[in-house]
Amino acid sequence: MAGKAFLSQQAGVALVGFMGAGKTSVGEALSRRLNWRFEDLDERITLRAGCGIEQIFREQGEPAFRSAEHAALRELLAEMEGTRMVIALGGGAFAQPENWRLLAGAPVTTVFLDAPVEELFRRCGEHPARRPLVKDLQQFQRLHELRRENYLKAAFRVETGGKDVEAVALEVAWVLGMGTAE
Ligand code: S3P
Repeated sequence: MAGKAFLSQQAGVALVGFMGAGKTSVGEALSRRLNWRFEDLDERITLRAGCGIEQIFREQGEPAFRSAEHAALRELLAEMEGTRMVIALGGGAFAQPENWRLLAGAPVTTVFLDAPVEELFRRCGEHPARRPLVKDLQQFQRLHELRRENYLKAAFRVETGGKDVEAVALEVAWVLGMGTAE
């Protein structure tokens, strides 16, 4: 696929992948690199709800979180008109068929940030409060296995294992046909 021609019809990029994939940090770096607006779906959910993700899960349960997530994504995509955006999705968002369908109908290129599951688990230790679904490695691996086929539906896949945030952002820019020689 010719990256530039493809991207010229796209208004945004959505980074998908499991918890710990680096969607937020790579998204921020990519938005700086492309000079596009950055949007973090989890942050929008917490702003709309007026409380943290952990509290939504604890007080209202996962189904309520998923419907808040879907509403936030719908709102975000409706705001895209004329704005180029890098969107970091939460780890479960792309695994929900209704979100996948919403993104498939939007002018958004999806990129799966992939990494070995042990590395993802290790990275998750850094932000436990945002991740009520992280318990132990075994449960983490099971959920990862269940969701992986969904992530593979993204238009592109970038391997992030052992790489730093800027290197991954550059690679994503390259696969989108927007890398620059450095
Ligand atoms: C979730 C991932 C989290 C956050 C919530 C649920 C998931 O986002 O949306 O805790 O279901 O995998 P990150 O992938 O940014 O950790």
